[in-house]
Amino acid sequence: MRTMGKWLWALWLVLLPAWAAAEDGHELWLRYRPLQGQAMVQLQAGARSIVVPAQPGSPTLRAAVAELQRGITAMAGREPVLATRIAQGALVLATPGSAPPGVELRWDELGREGWLLRSTRLQGRPVTLIAANSEAGLLYGSFAWLRAAQTGADLSRLEQRSVPKVGLRLLNHWDNLDRSVERGYAGASIWDWWKLPDLLDPRYVDYARANASLGINGTVLNNVNAKAESLTAPFLAKAAALADVFRPYGIRVYLSARFSAPVELGGLKTADPLDPAVRAWWRAKAAEIYERIPDFGGFLVKANSEGQPGPQDYGRHHADGANMLAEALAPHGGVVMWRAFVYAPDAKDRAAQAFAEFQPLDGKFAPNVIVQVKNGPIDFQPREPFHPLFGAMPKTPLALELQITKEYLGFSTHLVHLGPLFEEVLQADTGHGGTVARVVDGRLHGHRLTAIAGVANIGTDRNWSGSQFDQANWYAFGRLAWDPDLPAAAVARDWVAQTFTARPAARDAIARLMLASREAVVDYMTPLGLHHLMGTGHHHGPAPWVDNLERADWNPVYFHRAGRDGIGFDRSATGSNAVAQYAPSVARRFGDPRTTPPELLLWFHHLPWDHAMPSGRTLWAELVARYDRGVATVADMRRRWAALEPDIDAARHAEVAAYLAVQEGEARWWRDACIAYFQAVSGLPLPPGVRPPAQPLEAYKAMRFPFAPGRGG
Ligand code: GCU
Repeated sequence: MRTMGKWLWALWLVLLPAWAAAEDGHELWLRYRPLQGQAMVQLQAGARSIVVPAQPGSPTLRAAVAELQRGITAMAGREPVLATRIAQGALVLATPGSAPPGVELRWDELGREGWLLRSTRLQGRPVTLIAANSEAGLLYGSFAWLRAAQTGADLSRLEQRSVPKVGLRLLNHWDNLDRSVERGYAGASIWDWWKLPDLLDPRYVDYARANASLGINGTVLNNVNAKAESLTAPFLAKAAALADVFRPYGIRVYLSARFSAPVELGGLKTADPLDPAVRAWWRAKAAEIYERIPDFGGFLVKANSEGQPGPQDYGRHHADGANMLAEALAPHGGVVMWRAFVYAPDAKDRAAQAFAEFQPLDGKFAPNVIVQVKNGPIDFQPREPFHPLFGAMPKTPLALELQITKEYLGFSTHLVHLGPLFEEVLQADTGHGGTVARVVDGRLHGHRLTAIAGVANIGTDRNWSGSQFDQANWYAFGRLAWDPDLPAAAVARDWVAQTFTARPAARDAIARLMLASREAVVDYMTPLGLHHLMGTGHHHGPAPWVDNLERADWNPVYFHRAGRDGIGFDRSATGSNAVAQYAPSVARRFGDPRTTPPELLLWFHHLPWDHAMPSGRTLWAELVARYDRGVATVADMRRRWAALEPDIDAARHAEVAAYLAVQEGEARWWRDACIAYFQAVSGLPLPPGVRPPAQPLEAYKAMRFPFAPGRGG
């Protein structure tokens, strides 16, 4: 039998290269490929058995054990036994109530969801302890141990502890009920609403495993541009079926709620939040939802934003609307995530609007309301300054909303790693006594209700996210939601090790390429603080010339304000003065072009083309140089990727190489079209030695993209 086992194992190793060649990314970062050398020896020695607190255990415990068995079997080539007694090389899963004698640790330091991994001795035998206060914590700890194994940690000397800093770590799906996905570039919605609740696609379990492996503990199933139908009984039954699948993985279901649902579904004449009948309708609706989904998380609401109904339709303010929903959910423990993404058609400066509407409401929201704020004041641009609301509403819990899907960053064909973007906003100093991370994790103002949300990039594509590297953005979001202070570079390396290769040289080369990619996209799309230069509607490609849309603040010309005299949006005291919405120290820095970082210069200032830059160049020459640098970085990423061919399976290498070729072409297109346009409006010659745009401006203006993906239903 043993010989047979060895033979099968040898066959497995022989077949492995062929199998690896067929990789398509479907397994995400839970690939569990066989370890090599010393790592394999350690794994086989340290994961012989799994000792669990109780048999057969709750669904969450079973999920943890099943994942360990799956991972260990694949990585070590043999299945660990399930045991109740401690033996040498055991993985011991322990909670305070079930820990075997001899386990000494500060349980209170692990919080409700945190975990500890420790190489130790129990009953005289070397074991690894996975300890947590809850079964969800054991699940997270099990995934952490599997990550340690996959990333090459020394499994015989583990001492790791981690407690999430943010309570609600959520994906926001902009998925429509017809299965289209707004701003989705990875196929259709994975929620097969038509077949739910009868058919439970096995993908739902894999979705839950992937999220739990990162610590994501909630998912908003439907688009913020919500249809009232998502709150009808048939759809609630579908949502309940998904909630049942996700529950063992610690994931709660939430829904986007349409504010006018009482009118559309309930036949009421109004959705006025102060109307008793409206309030009663929402209370009854909440009760109905909790009847079906006892651990329902709550509502996400986009109101009085981009045409969505809201309390202002009835002369009420955002807090009136949010508090009405909060009242309905409170008896059941649910929360309202009320979005601050608002801007009125007549706004003098769109970037200033959310602050103007929300900041005065600080202190007026019910305790179970959290105001969800995008990372920057416009809309998920390649670079924005942090949103001025962070730190400015001390009495209100604020959630950070990040966009994982790359609506404005080249969709899924551009390799743009978002870890550095997320890190940049989280570590931004608000000037109110702490970083954005400290606002979001509640520590700055002492809030217990804390949340971070990422607009999902998940769809039915085999690789889930539309490209191999877009998986890393989902991954980085999840890891940073758990711990906003993790360095993006370390997270990128972990992802590479789990996904492509753990060999340090190749791992680091790939991570470096990822980390350089964010600045590249800023350079070739919107350098020096420019923003919103993209094509209308689909948001693909450059269109800085657009000036004919029904709303001024949808036009790129509104944002860049380029003319003969110069370029940039003056948000300083001489302009819209939006800069005054920041804390005084930040407002001072951003209010003066001499102290504004070049990366944000044209966000805050309108400057003449010959403005002297720190580099010694004029603003015009610097702008052109940044566009060139962006294109050059992508060309370099392409070369570096080509050199990695021996380290990566053929299918995934080829897919990434094809996308990088697209990206290089489109980076040139962005550069050429923008330079052609800014040259036309400035009337300036190109700086010496600069390559002229490949085509005349009119050719770029004539391009149309009627079939660009992502606009949803
Ligand atoms: C962007 C995006 C919309 C989305 C909106 C939002 O404007 O283009 O598709 O609905 O953000 O966040 O609500």
